[in-house]
Formats: sequence, C-alpha cells, structure tokens
Amino acid sequence: MAGFQSLPGFRDFYPEDFSRRQHIFRVWRQTASAFGFQEYDAPVLEPLELYKTKSGDEIEAQLFSFKDKGDREVSLRPEMTPTVCRMVGAKAGALKRPIKWFSIAEFYRYERAQKGRLRAFHQFNADIFGEAGPEAEIELIALLVQCLAGFGLTKDDFYVRLSDRDLWFFYLEALGFNEEQSRALLTAVDRFEKMGDDAFKGYAEAHGALPADQKDKVLAFLKVKGLAELEATLAPFKSDKLSARLTDWRKVLAGLAAMGLGDFVCVDLAVVRGLAYYTGFVFEAFDRKGDLRALAGGGRYNDLVKKLGGPDLPAVGFAIGDVTTGLLLEQRGLAPAHVTAPDVYVVIGGEAERKAAFADIHALRAAGFKAEYPFRELAFGKQFKAASESGAKLALIYGGDELAKGIVKVRNLTDRTEHEVPKNQVIAAVRDSLSGD
Ligand code: HAM
Repeated sequence: MAGFQSLPGFRDFYPEDFSRRQHIFRVWRQTASAFGFQEYDAPVLEPLELYKTKSGDEIEAQLFSFKDKGDREVSLRPEMTPTVCRMVGAKAGALKRPIKWFSIAEFYRYERAQKGRLRAFHQFNADIFGEAGPEAEIELIALLVQCLAGFGLTKDDFYVRLSDRDLWFFYLEALGFNEEQSRALLTAVDRFEKMGDDAFKGYAEAHGALPADQKDKVLAFLKVKGLAELEATLAPFKSDKLSARLTDWRKVLAGLAAMGLGDFVCVDLAVVRGLAYYTGFVFEAFDRKGDLRALAGGGRYNDLVKKLGGPDLPAVGFAIGDVTTGLLLEQRGLAPAHVTAPDVYVVIGGEAERKAAFADIHALRAAGFKAEYPFRELAFGKQFKAASESGAKLALIYGGDELAKGIVKVRNLTDRTEHEVPKNQVIAAVRDSLSGD
C-alpha cells in the first residue's frame, strides 16, 4: 500500500503485539513490586544538557535532539539514568533509604538498524540510591535474574556477566598505567570482543604501542572467567585497594549463591560497559546461545547524582530492554498467545429483543464479564456461527419466545448443553456456568 509508514526503527503495536508487550511489562512490574521497588515516571523530553558528557560519546551521537519553539536545546530521552538521578537528587533528603525505584518507559536513540536494536524501545529501569555496599548489587542482580526467570526462562537460556571498572583501574594502576592510559585501555577492552586486536589501535595512536608483556597481562585479565581465577591473578599484587575489591566480589557472589542464583551469574572481566558514568561493578545479561544483543545492562554510578547538582549519593541500577527480551521469549516459545475470546456471546432475536438484551449486556460487563453481541440484526444461524468463532464459552439467547416467557436460554458452547434461566437471574447464571473453568 502506498502512503504513510512508520519511521525506521519505530514500531506500530497491533493488538497482538501490544498484548505481548503488556505481558512483558506485567512480569517486570510484578517482579519489581515483589522486591519492594516503587514505580515512578518522568518526562520524555529533557534539556539536551542532561545527556551531554554524562551519558558518553556513543549515546550523545545518537540523540534525537532539536530546538523547541522557545529556542531551548532539548532531546528525547535516550535512557532514564540521568533523569532519575536528577529526580532523586532534588528530594534526596526527604526520601526514605534505601531508595529503590523502578520505571517502565520508552526511549529513543538514533541507532543503526540491526536485529534487536531499534530507534524507539522500552526499558525496565531499576535503581537503588543511598547504599554504598555490595548489598545493593546483590539485590539488583537478583531482581534482574527474576525479571527474566519470571517468564519461564532458565539458567540455560540466559546469564549475567559480572565485571568491575574499579577492579580494572586498580589492576592497571598496579601494572603501572596512569589514569588516561587506563581509560584508553578500557575502551580497547570494551571493543575487544567485536574487533579483536584492532581494538588496541586507538590506544597505540594516543600512547604508543603496548609492550608485549603488558598486553599479555591485559588480555589475561580480560579472559578471567571465575572467582578463583580472579583471586589467583591478583595474588601477586600487594594492593589494599585490590584486596578490598575482592572482599566485595566475594560478598556479591556469595549473596547470589545463597539466593540460589549462582548458576545465573559468571565473572567476566571482558564486560566494561560503554556508558561514561559507571564507577564500580558493571554487569550485562545475555542469552546463552549468544544469538542476540544484550538483554540488559547496568552497574554502579556513584558520582552521577552529584555531577547533576544533587548530593553525594551512591547508586547502582540496570535496564532491561523489551526488544531483545521479546525476541528471546519468541525463540523459546514463551511468548503468550493473544487471547481475545469473550466469556459470553449474546444472540439477539430482533430489534424488539435488543433492548432487553442491552440491559443485561451492560450489567454483565459492569460485573466484569467479557460480553459481545452483533451490532446489526442477523439470522440466528449466523449469530451462532459468530458465537462459536469468537471462542465464547457461553451463548445467551434473547429470542421473542424466550422473553415472552420471562426467560433467557444459556447455551454452553463447549458441551452444547442448554438450560433456561429467569431473565432477572442472568448474571448469577453466567457466574455459575463459568465458575467451573
Ligand atoms: P544500556 O546498556 O544502554 O544501559 O541499555 C540497557 C538495555 O536497553 C540494553 O541491554 C538493551 O536491551 C536495551 N537497549 C538499549 N538500546 C537499545 C536500542 N537501540 N534498541 C533496543 N533496545 C535497546 C542503559 O541504558 C543504562 N541507563 C542502564 C542503567 C540503569 N544503568 C544504571 N541504571
């Protein structure tokens, strides 16, 4: 069809798509509430300044930004983190600690089109403010796992890769790198999975080629895949900072193991996260097969609330996306079927009977039953066909003969049985007939 189409990377949600999306949101919302998180919302349009330098170069290049009619530089939100920091920062003194908040909202990034990446997508964001210790990481990673396990996904379907930007900085410092070199090296680590050795080109241009033995040490750290291996790699360094971090690592992993979630989490220092504001633990969730882009990402960002004008407030959080989650659920056959069947289909004899039927139809709906009826006069045969095609469990028959007797016929469309009920007892009769379901 010629004519208008939605913009690239933006989706129409037809009822079937919408019901799948609602299912995802429902599971996230229920899970967050079980973990004691409170829901909030925020503006979709923000001052451009909120994202400049705070989110990082990659997101900044992808902003849907423009000048509004008052000449303000504004942007559609690409993520929730700066906004929620601004909100919490403004009222931090009045909020009960720990502050555990979540939201479900739409975000906009001008991304290159690829599977699992769109320009408008939804995220579930969950963040904890005011807790500096690794207890916050335990709570959030457990929530992240349950936000996926709540759909029926298991440890064979997805896992969380846990890493630590602090640990990287302390390790690189122990190897003799200064802060600027360490930042450049972390960019290389971030790109290493995709680009291999080429990832180190940027570092070489700025700081000269990495000596082979240093590079080996960086690569060895990047490949660490377990706590014992991590402890062994760090054992030769007598650094208090490194041992303090290892204590936090043991706490996080032991806490998650005690919750029965040990199999969902793996130590993986190849993850460092592109966003500029992360300061400590960082984590990402992926499907086990590795077919899809990241399901979720997050980490600690202890400086951002302050950078945005608020108090010094430690924070950790993550976001799960609806696009990759939806793809994974479909792959695993866990996307629910779209069910629209009414409870009751009302079959109406003619115009004269319509009025009597209308009173009951509305009363049924007000009582919470799904009731449908034909908009126009139709032969009985056609109405019964429509009733069975609709998937309704019951047909209520309002014919001239029935109404003359003061009754309505209730036909069970599954077992084809039929009985008569007094017209003034239709609601109770429907409730009785459906209660066996
Ligand atoms: P992020 O890694 O940029 O983190 O995004 C988190 C998740 O959102 C991704 O893993 C992915 O599922 C989804 N997502 C991101 N971009 C797109 C896209 N273009 N299309 C579809 N899905 C996408 C953040 O946004 C951080 N603000 C998370 C956070 C919260 N950190 C602390 N608190």
